[in-house]
Amino acid sequence: MTHYAALAGLGGFLPPRQVTNGELAATLDTSEEWITSRTGIRTRHWAGPGVATSDLAVEAGHRALKSANLPLAPGAVDAVILATTTPDHPCPATAPQVAARLGLGTVAAYDIAAVCSGFVYALATASAQIVAGQARRVLVIGAETYSTILDPADRTTSVIFGDGAGAVVLHAVPEADRPGVLLGVDLGSDGSRADLILVPAGGSRQRSTLGEPDPRDRYFTMQGTKVFAEAVTRMGESASLVLARIGWPRDSIDHLVGHQANIRILRALAGWLGLPEERAVVNVDRVGNTSAASIPLALCDAAANGTLTPGSRVLLTAFGGGLTWGAAALIWPDLNAA
Ligand code: UT7
Repeated sequence: MTHYAALAGLGGFLPPRQVTNGELAATLDTSEEWITSRTGIRTRHWAGPGVATSDLAVEAGHRALKSANLPLAPGAVDAVILATTTPDHPCPATAPQVAARLGLGTVAAYDIAAVCSGFVYALATASAQIVAGQARRVLVIGAETYSTILDPADRTTSVIFGDGAGAVVLHAVPEADRPGVLLGVDLGSDGSRADLILVPAGGSRQRSTLGEPDPRDRYFTMQGTKVFAEAVTRMGESASLVLARIGWPRDSIDHLVGHQANIRILRALAGWLGLPEERAVVNVDRVGNTSAASIPLALCDAAANGTLTPGSRVLLTAFGGGLTWGAAALIWPDLNAA
C-alpha cells in the first residue's frame, strides 16, 4: 500500500542568551543602524559556553515529539535525521547521540550536510524513507551553533548568524491529499560555486595539502553580496518548479516560508514569485540566520502566533552553501508547535 509523508509534530528551541545589534556594534566596526537596515536582524541567540549542537537538537526534538504525542521511548520513530553545519564533532555524526539522549532506542540516525538548505534536504530524505516503506515515523531536526564557527572579528558574518534548533515529525499516511503531506519536493546544487560559503580548514582538502591550518581558517566565510543574488534566483526557481509540479498557481500560496537569511532576500523572493510581501513569514529579525534550523524555527514562530492556520497553502524554500537549494509545499495541518 502506498504511503505519503505528512507533518505530525513541530518544535523549536533557542538558547536563552540574546545578542543584540548594540552588543555587536560595541566590539565590531559596524552599527545598529547598518545591521538593521541591511539585514532586518535586530537580535539573535547564541549558545553559552559548553553548549553544543546536540544539546539544542535534543530540546527541539523533544518538543516535536511532544507535539506529535509521541513518547521518549524506543519505537516512537524509526529514524532521526539531523541537518547541521556545526556537528558536535567531525566524526561521528551527531544524530545518533541525539537519538540516544532522547531515549529513542537503536534507530537509524544520521546527519545531513547541506548548510542552510539542510532542513529541506532532510525533509526530502525523510519523506522518501516513508514513501519507500522504510520508516513509519521520522524525527527531522535542523540544529546549529554557528557562534562556534564565526570569526569574532568578521563583521560580515558575525552580525548575521544565530544559534537554535527546530524539528518536525513526519509520519506515514495513506491519503495523498491529507493536510500536512509533503508535496512536490525539489532539491538542487551547484558545487562549482562552493567557494562562496566555506570553512577552509578542518576537512581532508586542507589537511592533505597544507599541513597545520591557520586557526582563522576554521572560521566560516561567506561572500555575502554574491550569495544574496544567487539565493533569490535559486529559491525562486526551485519554488516555481514545485508549484508547477503540483499545479498550484503562485498567487494561491498563503504563506511563503523562505530561509531566514536577510529580510531583503525574503522581500526580493516574494517579489520574484509575484507574491505580496505580507505572505512571507519573517522571524529573521529575532533569530538571525540560523542556517539548517531556519525553516523549522520560522514554522514554529508562525504556528505559535496564529499565522499558519489549518488548510492554508505553505511553500518552503531554502538556499545555502554548496551551493545547495530546495523547496517543498504542503497544506498546513491541524498542529500545535511545542
Ligand atoms: O545563508 C545563506 C544565505 N545568505 C546569507 O546568509 C546572506 C546573504 N547576503 C546578505 O545578507 C548580504 O549580502 C549582506 C548582509 C551580507 C551584505 O549586504 P549587501 O547589501 O550585500 O552589502 P552592501 O553592498 O550593502 O554593502 C557591502 C559593504 C561592504 O563595504 P564596501 O566594500 O562596499 O566598502 C562591506 O564591507 O558593507 C560592508 N559591510 C558592513 N558594514 C558595516 C559588511 N558587513 C558590514 C557590517 N557593518 N556588519
